[in-house]
Amino acid sequence: MANISPTATKHKPIPLGPGISVWPPVVLAPMAGVTSWPYRKICRDHGAGLCVSEMVSSRGILGRHERTWHLAQFGTDERPRSIQIFGCDADAMGESARVLRDELGADHIDLNFGCPVPKLTRKGMGAAAAADPENFRRVVRAVVRAADPVPVTIKVRIGMSDDLVTFREAGRVAEGEGCAWIALHARTAQQLYSGRARWEAIRELKGLVKIPVLGNGDIFEAPDAFRMMAETGCDGVVIGRGCLGNPWLFRSLKRMFDGAGEPERPSPEEIAAVMREHFGLLVSHFHGTPRSAGLMMRKFGGWYVRGLHGAAGLRTEFQRIETEEDFERLVERVRGLRYESGFRDPREATRELEAVDEAGCG
Ligand SMILES: Cc1cc2nc3c(=O)[nH]c(=O)nc-3n(C[C@H](O)[C@H](O)[C@H](O)COP(=O)(O)O)c2cc1C
Repeated sequence: MANISPTATKHKPIPLGPGISVWPPVVLAPMAGVTSWPYRKICRDHGAGLCVSEMVSSRGILGRHERTWHLAQFGTDERPRSIQIFGCDADAMGESARVLRDELGADHIDLNFGCPVPKLTRKGMGAAAAADPENFRRVVRAVVRAADPVPVTIKVRIGMSDDLVTFREAGRVAEGEGCAWIALHARTAQQLYSGRARWEAIRELKGLVKIPVLGNGDIFEAPDAFRMMAETGCDGVVIGRGCLGNPWLFRSLKRMFDGAGEPERPSPEEIAAVMREHFGLLVSHFHGTPRSAGLMMRKFGGWYVRGLHGAAGLRTEFQRIETEEDFERLVERVRGLRYESGFRDPREATRELEAVDEAGCG
């Protein structure tokens, strides 16, 4: 049985680039429709070591597409400015990295080689990119050179399927081309999110390369992160679904990595306060109206109330939010709720993924 001691003095910050290291070694996963600046800010304030933007298209950056450009915006005081791009054309990927560095002040560029969505993989992007090893190496090399001195990392899956396993070669390329780390979502693209993440692949990758390896897949509660690190030897973890509506997972992890306390779930009052903050950030970041932020909160609201008594009914009501008053009324109700008896089960996030736009991009 692996040692999952709650305090973690044995863990170290993950070196990322000149003057940047990540502590705690816990990264907010890039998630389309979720990790724009508002949620990144919330997770950062709760203790995430690094918060990566959702994926943006390299072609969209170069073509200055309005939507892509907007998704690529950072918060004014955001540091480090971490962004994920996707594509499979070496020149376009390199050039977009340069634009992100020079025009948006990116401090870190992550490459998406994990998206399983056929719209991308059919064109050799996302998880399919590593199946063409020569082009894969060209892309990684072009971005590392163009972005210099900004550090570049890659995020991959095990492969397209069990018959097309690419993570080992991806690790060798990442190391050979000078990536700062490789993150592995320990499933194949074919698996999407089903089954258990196969952490043994993370352990194997850790044995293959000298650059830091970040493990990803199925961290839903703070002890899961320590278990993954102990079982695989990985240098840090990337957390996706486990933090949907639950930035307090980062608070728990920060405390535990600092050796400063135990995991603690939020009070309903805290949940309500963060929901309000999230709403306000959505309005300001997207230059939106309260109505448009309300529409975005339909999805987030359901995640925030998970585990609270009466959550199912509230979730339905969140789907009907039209105005800021609707939102306020629901938040007031959240303040007065209590937890269901038994533990809050963040694993439910996996069952609600159908509700997420563009779910399954990595
Ligand atoms: C809603 C949603 C959107 C996602 N979007 C991206 C993305 O833009 N880029 C990416 O590399 N992975 C994306 N992913 C995958 C996550 O980054 C992560 O690899 C995956 O969820 C497995 O980690 P988990 O078990 O902690 O959720 C997305 C996942 C979800 C649930």
